Amino acid sequence: METIKVGVIGAGYMGKNHMRVYSKMKGVELIAFSDVNEKLVKQLSKQFNVNGYVGYSELLKNEDIDAASIAVPTPLHKKVIMDVFSYKKHVLVEKPITISVAEAKSLIKSAEQKELILMVGHIERFNPAILKMKELIEEEYLGEIISLSARRIGPYIHRARDTGVLIDLAIHDIDVMRFLTEKKVKNVYAKIGPKTTKYEDYASILLEFETGILGSIEVNRLTPTKIRNLSLTFSDGFATVDYITQDILVYGKMLETDYKDYLDLISKSGDPKIEKPEIETQEPLKLELEHFIKCVRENKTPIVNGIEGLKNLEIALNALKSANAKF
Ligand SMILES: NC(=O)c1ccc[n+]([C@@H]2O[C@H](COP(=O)([O-])OP(=O)(O)OC[C@H]3O[C@@H](n4cnc5c(N)ncnc54)[C@H](O)[C@@H]3O)[C@@H](O)[C@H]2O)c1
Repeated sequence: METIKVGVIGAGYMGKNHMRVYSKMKGVELIAFSDVNEKLVKQLSKQFNVNGYVGYSELLKNEDIDAASIAVPTPLHKKVIMDVFSYKKHVLVEKPITISVAEAKSLIKSAEQKELILMVGHIERFNPAILKMKELIEEEYLGEIISLSARRIGPYIHRARDTGVLIDLAIHDIDVMRFLTEKKVKNVYAKIGPKTTKYEDYASILLEFETGILGSIEVNRLTPTKIRNLSLTFSDGFATVDYITQDILVYGKMLETDYKDYLDLISKSGDPKIEKPEIETQEPLKLELEHFIKCVRENKTPIVNGIEGLKNLEIALNALKSANAKF
């Protein structure tokens, strides 16, 4: 098997995880990384025993890599990707693809012209629980999807906070809902609010898909508890997905509808047929990076390519437009 040589640009919270995963992957060699934080470069060079660069241009000039993971703050994605493309290297960029539709389109065009891979790190597409849910939907196990509802809430964290929660967090669930329904979004409505930054820190979004499926998403970076879940209402049942624990619960039809009294109602409603499909827990980032490497090795288009990243970004930006925020 040909060894694929990779570099990582931006070695903060996400970039460090890319380095960890690549450094353990068969058929892959983590050659070098770059970060503007000198102290971090020294520390990670030692930890991973690889060349670290403060300027990523030096990395691109000096190192013979096939592909790079880009995990710099989102507003820098376009500039860094264009530079990496000019060295004819394939790219996996962390989500969101970038901050504007125009920038995303120019990245897609450049990748096409240069015949390079551009993959966007929409990590939940690789979450085993989401993949299992997709299987159940394809089998029509619970009938047709009527609506989906996602909650992605958690504490404020002091890293790359130069975008709002719509393109930073809600974009994960926008991607998952598009993937599970395979439907286009017809309309987007949203309300947003700020608390700690100049960008929106909380939002409620309603997606109207063609054929009438509804998707609602609640996101924030304000609550102390981290919750990431999705529930789906079907014509023949209901299901919940916990993105973190990778558990799915499937609620079948309630058999009893006649109740003697209120206690009888509680016991029957609280006890529907619930199944918990078996899911092998795996790290979604590992599955995502393995897919990227496979695409580089076999010269294939990734399942979350630039166009998919653009579609997700467009919806998130339309949500922002709908909210018409003026703080
Ligand atoms: N897939 C996910 O679940 C997920 C989770 C968190 C973040 N992200 C994405 O990852 C990206 C980075 O976010 P983060 O949370 O890791 O942020 P971070 O602040 O922890 O890391 C960003 C790093 O980039 C470095 N950097 C800045 N400018 C640079 C440059 N010119 N060259 C090299 N390095 C540079 C910073 O010093 C920092 O270490 C963002 O696009 C974010 O949306 C994705």
